[in-house]
Amino acid sequence: MGSFISMKTHLETKALFAGYNPADNHGAVKPPIHPASTFVFPSAAIGAAHMETAYGVEGAETPPEGGFIYSRLGNPTLNVAETRLAAWDESEAAAVFSSGMSAISTTLFAWTGSERALWYVGPLYGGTQHIVDDILPSMGVSVRKLESLDELALMGEEDGLPGMIFLETPANPTLQVHNIKTATDWAKARTSDDHRILVAVDNTFLGPILQRPLELGADLNVYSATKYIGGHSDLVAGAVSGEREAMAKVFEYRTFLGGMADPHTSWMLARSMETLAIRVERQSRSARQVLDHLQKTPGTPIKEINKIFSAWAEDLAGSGDYKSAGIAQAQQVNGGGMFAMELPGGRQAAFAFLDALQHFKLAVSLGSTESLAEHPASMTHAGVPSEEKLRHGITEGLVRLSIGLEHPKDLIADIDNALKASWDVSKAHEARLEQV
Ligand SMILES: Cc1ncc(COP(=O)(O)O)c(C=O)c1O
Repeated sequence: MGSFISMKTHLETKALFAGYNPADNHGAVKPPIHPASTFVFPSAAIGAAHMETAYGVEGAETPPEGGFIYSRLGNPTLNVAETRLAAWDESEAAAVFSSGMSAISTTLFAWTGSERALWYVGPLYGGTQHIVDDILPSMGVSVRKLESLDELALMGEEDGLPGMIFLETPANPTLQVHNIKTATDWAKARTSDDHRILVAVDNTFLGPILQRPLELGADLNVYSATKYIGGHSDLVAGAVSGEREAMAKVFEYRTFLGGMADPHTSWMLARSMETLAIRVERQSRSARQVLDHLQKTPGTPIKEINKIFSAWAEDLAGSGDYKSAGIAQAQQVNGGGMFAMELPGGRQAAFAFLDALQHFKLAVSLGSTESLAEHPASMTHAGVPSEEKLRHGITEGLVRLSIGLEHPKDLIADIDNALKASWDVSKAHEARLEQV
């Protein structure tokens, strides 16, 4: 090939095929899958160097770089997925897991403990909430819930310092946004050599293309890679990406908890990441078109909808929430492909809407090529206590939508048709109430 005039390469070009060099595999343009559970050592001395280093044995010889031992500790196909995610996140290291919950639990177990409290801001994904409410306290971790990150500014000496601040933004299912920088600035100002305060952000709802917590000072990004990163509803995986030292402990805990992704899932994820940018660009563009159709002006929904929950700055500003609009504007490329809407008429109207949909699939999960719809109060958030649900706006009339790759006009027609069904139910409900 001719010489290439060096210029600044864009992220898409750098990250698209990161982690794999065809020259390493007979020129094969795509990576192979390595299902091997174990790897042959070239000599006993090198085997010992690998194992003793992995176990932190004092005086261990340094093993040659790039060797593998056993697939729970590392595998070439897992490596491709991890290198590719680190490239998209522009992070120092990434670890890929068998599920989002495995990524989150491993991160929390690695960086919290009896001397390292967890502070978090809600709402959180139900699985994370369970770990935080039930599992961490049973392990002696002190857990504190913040209603908002603004509470950090009010903390005094008597409150102590956390080991980790955990947040999810935009949050599931009502798309509440939190200011990542409020947490990272606060943590950085109080971190010392003896006590590092980490900020971990669950970036599942926007993913590496639309929101970049590490650039805002977060130490760790966590993901359910089942969602946008995998993007096809055909795998379950998780990931953590971030600063090298913070990641070293995550890798250590993953080795012993055993939550790494298998080679087949890793290969699927690496392939999915090749289309990540174009998928989320199209999904968020379509979501914007649908949102514009469902609102007279941003923030003011059509009569068939009580309220729209969106992480788009214009919708937040239109509904008068200028603070969240400012946060969304500052830290997100756009509001992404997810939104929720509250329908008048409660559960019956919500169910009528969901049952009338033709193109949207009635299923939990999100971020896939197909559009998905669900009822948070009885499905994803069924286990959340009623008062908590109401406090976070998870009412019986709420439906959550994930916009896929179908033509946006078809999705709009589908929603319009389903809204007619829910409107009939809510009108009938209203008429019954008037008779009482
Ligand atoms: C925001 C968020 N975090 C974490 C998870 C858990 O991920 P997984 O289902 O891949 O374990 C989910 C799952 O829906 C989620 O929505």
